[in-house]
Amino acid sequence: MIPDGGWAGVVAGEWARRLQQRPALRMCLPTGSTPRPLYSAVAHQADFSASTVFVLDEFGLPEGDPARCNQILQRDLLRNLTNPPAHLENLDPQAPDLEAECNRYDMLLAQGGIHLTLLGLGSNGHLGLNEPGSDASSPTRVVELAPSTAEGIDKYGAVSETDWGMTVGMARLLASDEIWLLVTGSHKSEILAATLKDVVGPSLPASYLREADNVFVWADESAASLL
Ligand code: PGA
Repeated sequence: MIPDGGWAGVVAGEWARRLQQRPALRMCLPTGSTPRPLYSAVAHQADFSASTVFVLDEFGLPEGDPARCNQILQRDLLRNLTNPPAHLENLDPQAPDLEAECNRYDMLLAQGGIHLTLLGLGSNGHLGLNEPGSDASSPTRVVELAPSTAEGIDKYGAVSETDWGMTVGMARLLASDEIWLLVTGSHKSEILAATLKDVVGPSLPASYLREADNVFVWADESAASLL
């Protein structure tokens, strides 16, 4: 648990150290409100230039929509990096065969593995777009969005609406060498407590993190207030 004001700096420092130790780090990165201050903090202190970044998930929106995850990651992190990653990979929701696109992405992830996955915690317990109902073996796939997730894209300035997305599956995420769960703010305190204490199962996909190796929860004081 980290004091609220210091959260981003502490996590960014650790992340920069990981990149220093292993410059060719293969990372899976989320978008959303939680990582934004972290991304600002890490931008000028870390060297990403030998790394590979996989975008964690994507909404079923047309190219150019500001709420596309690849656009959000550009705005919040990539365009601000002094040393941007050598490779950037993302899911294409306009691919002619979406199932083949998910399989392509999953194979890319599998071939070199994922060294470090960063995850936000959905208010409904989702990880990426692995919504409630997803179990630990869920593959990388096309998903129907939970209503709260679909409504939430407005906060990214979405021009279109969508009720579907694509996500790296639970199975691939849980196989990461290291997983950092990022949780900030008092509005996440109840779901964080449930994630760590309730029964592990598909109604709360984040609970499966308790069965994975190498999971680290980076919670600020407000998010950890019920622990
Ligand atoms: P947030 O979203 O970081 O915007 O709270 C987390 C998530 O839905 O995964």
